[in-house]
Amino acid sequence: MILSQTLEQLANYCKQYGFVFPGSEIYGGLANSWDYGPLGVQLKNNLKQTWWESFVANNPMNVGLDSGILLHSDTWVASGHVNGFQDPLLDCRVCKSRFRADKLIETHSKGTVDADGWSISELTEYIQIHKLKCPVCGNMDFTEIRKFNLMFETHMGVIEDQKNTIYLRPETAQGIFLNFKNIQRTSRKKLPFGIGQIGKAFRNEITPGNFVFRTREFEQMELEFFTVPGTELDWFAYWKDFSRRFLIGLGIQEDHLKFYDHPQEKLSFYSNATTDILYQFPWGFDELWGIASRTDYDLKQHQKHSGESLEYLDPETNEKFLPYVIEPSLGVERLFLAVLNDALTEEMVPATNEMRTLLKIDKRIAPYQVAILPLIKKQHQEFSLDLYQTLLSKVNAVYDDTGNIGRRYRRQDAIGTPFCVTVDGATLEEKSVTVRHRDTMVQDRVPIRELADYLNDQLKG
Ligand code: GAP
Repeated sequence: MILSQTLEQLANYCKQYGFVFPGSEIYGGLANSWDYGPLGVQLKNNLKQTWWESFVANNPMNVGLDSGILLHSDTWVASGHVNGFQDPLLDCRVCKSRFRADKLIETHSKGTVDADGWSISELTEYIQIHKLKCPVCGNMDFTEIRKFNLMFETHMGVIEDQKNTIYLRPETAQGIFLNFKNIQRTSRKKLPFGIGQIGKAFRNEITPGNFVFRTREFEQMELEFFTVPGTELDWFAYWKDFSRRFLIGLGIQEDHLKFYDHPQEKLSFYSNATTDILYQFPWGFDELWGIASRTDYDLKQHQKHSGESLEYLDPETNEKFLPYVIEPSLGVERLFLAVLNDALTEEMVPATNEMRTLLKIDKRIAPYQVAILPLIKKQHQEFSLDLYQTLLSKVNAVYDDTGNIGRRYRRQDAIGTPFCVTVDGATLEEKSVTVRHRDTMVQDRVPIRELADYLNDQLKG
């Protein structure tokens, strides 16, 4: 991580190398929307795959799910989103800017006041007593505070009326609760067990921003882990530690992470423990991953609203009960931002006294693992392209023959490619290539017949 790296520099880097582009750019842009380019989609997929392996595929306790984005609208009444998923908003009458009242107070108090969860009268009183001004135009003329629901609403079918109102899911979790019975029956899992899901979520955020940190369309990787009541806090501690180790395993520095345990009096009424894993983003420590002990709230609510029993029958005691749930919930884009921020660095190359941009990213999640580079395009292109085709089925590979070899090495360093394979004159005679290591810049000569195994060993190591 470059200590002085600003978010703007990170966003520029992402645009320059093809990780992230501003959304709908040719139409002048769509505010706070982003498209992921060739390197961005590759990195995102690698992050999702690593999460899936750790939390689902290679985890004997858990299974996976891919539920719909559109769910029965009663889902969101039962979950509390229709009545409770709201932000307190107010407008400046002079310049028409719109703000979240709690955020306005937090900014004004320089973070010393946490107004999250305050009632409308508490927020109004604070704003009046402290004579808060509009941060945009400096006037003190706000509208009354009103609640604004964050769910995107649409209509199913052709007729627009109240009866067929449907919502884009604001979290993937509820699809898991709706399928709890189906999955328990078909997988024959016994408590404790978990159901993991990766998918898009949508929130009409009032204050999106900080690049891809808070957007209206994003992806979540969520696990709902079902436990026997009374054991849930042990499992809460287990998943907190598991999640922290997952991040460190991705190469994030331990001292760039912090746990924030929500104080008891600030917990949602249904939660008996909640912790955020905070990461040191360029603007300071902020939420990366939410981990909550949600008791039996969600299952109880869906049981009540659907009329279907969602109880678990314990095969040993023959007792029926609703399991208690632990939920580690992580945003793909926040992880993407944290990983890039942690890995991006600049260093002096002693041999040339030049600075190089280096993405020191974990080999497993690097967008490309190997770059194939012909030393001289005219002489070595054909052989290099054949080698590229062969390696493509084994590793994430890229081919590049544009510019001099030094520049091409620098570009691969900057996008985090751990190995560059250079095809040169000796390759054709001796049937060997040069493998250059990203971090050390050390070069090894490797016989072509051993190349795939060599790269495999290095990537595993
Ligand atoms: N099911 C629980 C849940 O959705 P949350 O704290 O609202 O909890 C979980 O969201 C995680 O999803 C957050 O820690 C964050 O990583 C990600 N997230 C939430 N809102 C986001 C947004 N608007 N943009 C990007 N990521 C978001």
